Amino acid sequence: MATIEILKVTKLPPFLTEELGLRYTVHELDTLSDPLALARVQAIVGGGDGRLNAELFDRCPNAKVVSCFGVGYDGVDTAAAVQRGIVVGHTPDVLNDEVADLGLGLMLSVARQIPQADQYVRSGRWAQAPFPLQRKVTGARLGIVGMGRIGKAIAQRAEAFRMQIAYTARSAKADLPHDFVPSVKELAARSDFLLAITPGGESTKGIINAEVLQALGPRGFFINIARGSVVDQPALLEALKNNTIAGAGLDVFVGEPNIDPAFFSLPNVVLTPHMASATFETRRAMADRLLDNLAAGLSKQRMPSAVPECQVLEQGR
Ligand code: 8YV
Repeated sequence: MATIEILKVTKLPPFLTEELGLRYTVHELDTLSDPLALARVQAIVGGGDGRLNAELFDRCPNAKVVSCFGVGYDGVDTAAAVQRGIVVGHTPDVLNDEVADLGLGLMLSVARQIPQADQYVRSGRWAQAPFPLQRKVTGARLGIVGMGRIGKAIAQRAEAFRMQIAYTARSAKADLPHDFVPSVKELAARSDFLLAITPGGESTKGIINAEVLQALGPRGFFINIARGSVVDQPALLEALKNNTIAGAGLDVFVGEPNIDPAFFSLPNVVLTPHMASATFETRRAMADRLLDNLAAGLSKQRMPSAVPECQVLEQGR
């Protein structure tokens, strides 16, 4: 029996690619040998951060499902999807803890210089002189940019570090005891750590700009576990070079994975390769959600996690 044909437009963990191959006939956009296959695909799987646009949807006129591997779906043109009756699914909730953990990890790494200290010990310098003093995280002021599911998981962890937490978001959250600060710049001015965990896309493009970094100041650290697009990257590089801010812990970048090499020689950054959700346990849970969304969408059932913009298509299912 012919299996359902789907299109894969991004790299996925090998175990997930294998499982997709057992259930469906999978075409890879990058190595497509049969251009006519696009007309037969009924679903598209991809990362939420790219390539899922009107042009691709038009090349796949029979695709009625998009299943994203990730919570963020800034790379999906949801308006174009809704127009074409395509339901988009993503993987919220299952990665909250993991992304929050890495946020705290980056904060500790950059303030306590853990990677640099590791190099210090390995290179034998410890016997010559003690490692320089670092900055204290417990009790410091944390400004969270974006107070959704992951922002809340970060705040919970920061409470255990007795941090003074404030946040900015579209609106104040009545259920939270933390200070709501409407402007990112004002939040930066009252933070020792400014941490971005807001969705990507046009509405947040470059919100961390030169002025915000200036307000964060020479004792302030910037942590980005959101998207590279939320920061004006040339301004960030400038601020790091000139010590306008103390340092940065960055998991996301413009142009990943081919990031600006200017980052490599900066002593005051800790860089990780967009790995906030990348543990065996969480990637397994994300894969399960992707597979469940895909199966539900293909059988015209309600998806476990359709993105809010597409829920209108699910009514009545
Ligand atoms: C994804 C992410 O794992 O969920 C997101 O939005 O950024 C990551 O956790 C990554 O984008 C892989 O697709």
